[in-house]
Amino acid sequence: MKDNSLDDFIENVRAQSDIVSVIAGYVSLHKRGKNFWGCCPFHHEKTPSFSVSPEKGFFYCFGCHTGGNVFNFVMKIENIAFLEAVKLLARRSNIPFPEKHKTPAEMAKEHETAQLFKALELAKNFFQACLVKTSFGTQARNYLVKRGISKDLMEKFQLGYAPPLWDKLLNALTERGFEIDTLAKAGLIVKRTSGDGYYDRFRDRIMYPISDIRGRIIGFGGRVLNEGQPKYLNSPETEIFNKRNTLYGLDKAYHSIRSLGNVIVVEGYMDVISLHSVGITNAVASLGTAFSVEQARTLRHYAQEIYFAYDSDAAGQNATLRALSTVRAMGIPIKVITIPDGKDPDEFIRKHGRESFDVILKEAISLLDFQLQFALRNHDISTLEGKVAVVSQVVPILSDVDNAVEVNYYITHLSKLLSIDESAILSEYRKYINKKDKNVNIGQTNYNRIPKDGLNPACTQAERQIIRFMFDDIGLIPYVMAQLPIEEIYDSSRKEIIDLIYNEYNIGKSADPSRIVHKLSDEGKNELSLIMLLNSDCTDITRVVDDCMKTIHLAHLHVLYEQHRLRADELERMGDSDYLQELAESQRIKNEIKKLH
Ligand code: UTP
Ligand code: MN
Repeated sequence: MKDNSLDDFIENVRAQSDIVSVIAGYVSLHKRGKNFWGCCPFHHEKTPSFSVSPEKGFFYCFGCHTGGNVFNFVMKIENIAFLEAVKLLARRSNIPFPEKHKTPAEMAKEHETAQLFKALELAKNFFQACLVKTSFGTQARNYLVKRGISKDLMEKFQLGYAPPLWDKLLNALTERGFEIDTLAKAGLIVKRTSGDGYYDRFRDRIMYPISDIRGRIIGFGGRVLNEGQPKYLNSPETEIFNKRNTLYGLDKAYHSIRSLGNVIVVEGYMDVISLHSVGITNAVASLGTAFSVEQARTLRHYAQEIYFAYDSDAAGQNATLRALSTVRAMGIPIKVITIPDGKDPDEFIRKHGRESFDVILKEAISLLDFQLQFALRNHDISTLEGKVAVVSQVVPILSDVDNAVEVNYYITHLSKLLSIDESAILSEYRKYINKKDKNVNIGQTNYNRIPKDGLNPACTQAERQIIRFMFDDIGLIPYVMAQLPIEEIYDSSRKEIIDLIYNEYNIGKSADPSRIVHKLSDEGKNELSLIMLLNSDCTDITRVVDDCMKTIHLAHLHVLYEQHRLRADELERMGDSDYLQELAESQRIKNEIKKLH
């Protein structure tokens, strides 16, 4: 929805919020050269790698690669949404908020959402009162006490009890003026399958409220007191409750996650509570579903490293493996905590206490070690079949490791464990790498050959420079646009930025980085901030831009060449005469490359 008065207001707030003085309210900054420097508030560090450019209006941390404009800074440090950051800065500069022009439909929607939050908050109060103040709650109270949960802890986690009746909550909330429809949408009541009417979803269960990061209740987990099924009944997905996006306990944990730089992910509500009870406050749980990409993204805002402490049973270990592949694909460092005695962190802590947990935390193993142990555990390595199976399971994992020393170390290690020859494992490893190299290329860009930070360092540099120049001089945008197709950019952050510059230009807007930064993904924002902090002094801009475009174009041609050549190989091996065409195309590209050099 386009609202010009809002755009103007945001722009006005940005223009009047001096980034240095805003950030100086949180971080102690010192001037060095054109920029200001300090210790990054978003990760733990002793020497300053956090810089602020007053001229460009950006901050960037060279340690944790977080960056953005003044709004992004406030959003991150205060943990608030974009518009709230704008409002906060507006208040700071005494800029009045513009009159809202909301449509009736928007107003109705906002009201409805507010009602959902209200209903859940009141439901939480109701369950809490039932647990603490009524005789209904006696059994539940005893149960929790027996599990070592103190009154304080019950209060801190706002635990409650849903009474064993069909309409207690329904009546309580409709008496307070809530519509049936709202309660149903909040997931608190369920429609009867036969006949009219509704009944309470949660009955005779211990209630664990689930909050968003700001501490607003968005749903519940309800545990049976005894052995009933299901053990936990959770709120359904609602407009405000999305399990993939939520982590239990994050509202209480994010401060310490940020200051420690790491987070412990566990499976259960009780695990989080137990860890908190002994002062380990950087723990969250993944809500009974597989650990999601969204959850990993959220945690990446606060942590540089993720520890997994899932249950030690087979289900927990399989869940660990799945979670690891999700996180690994995102390039976040991972450690796995092994719970030696007891099923889960909660049981372990109750049996052995905090000090023992600190020990197993220190002994957490890397992803590779975990996968190795997992393979060893699941096969009988006294048999030849078992050894072969382990090797074939470990080799693909090793093929992802890009450090030769590490690969060698694991091969030696594995050869000892399995008592087989190192050279046998090495040869399997080589075979696998060769096969993988060929397969990856068929029909798609070979991203595997591209180093993590772009096509190659020269290309990364060229792309960054081009972006920077387009920001510094709008006149360059059509010039670049005409010669640099977006398909030639392989790095997703820079592709996103360039795409946005082109699009903004097409609708007649100048690409002011501060104005467009909020339209970018987090990776895009960080990349943009880095680019804005680069030195861009240069005398002959057009020549440099031409050189940059050439570098990018050449790299692109190399990728195309590789694709056609490998496709030709493949077709030839299959006896398909089309390989000649592919070969010819690859030669054509090769000639084009030669001409450009
Ligand atoms: P667990 O069965 O390990 O439960 O499930 P727990 O948290 O250790 O609970 P206690 O110690 O037996 O009281 C781990 C998590 O999986 C989800 C819940 O989020 C639970 O905390 N779960 C489990 C469900 O959503 N539904 C279920 O039926 C079971
Ligand atoms: Mn448990």
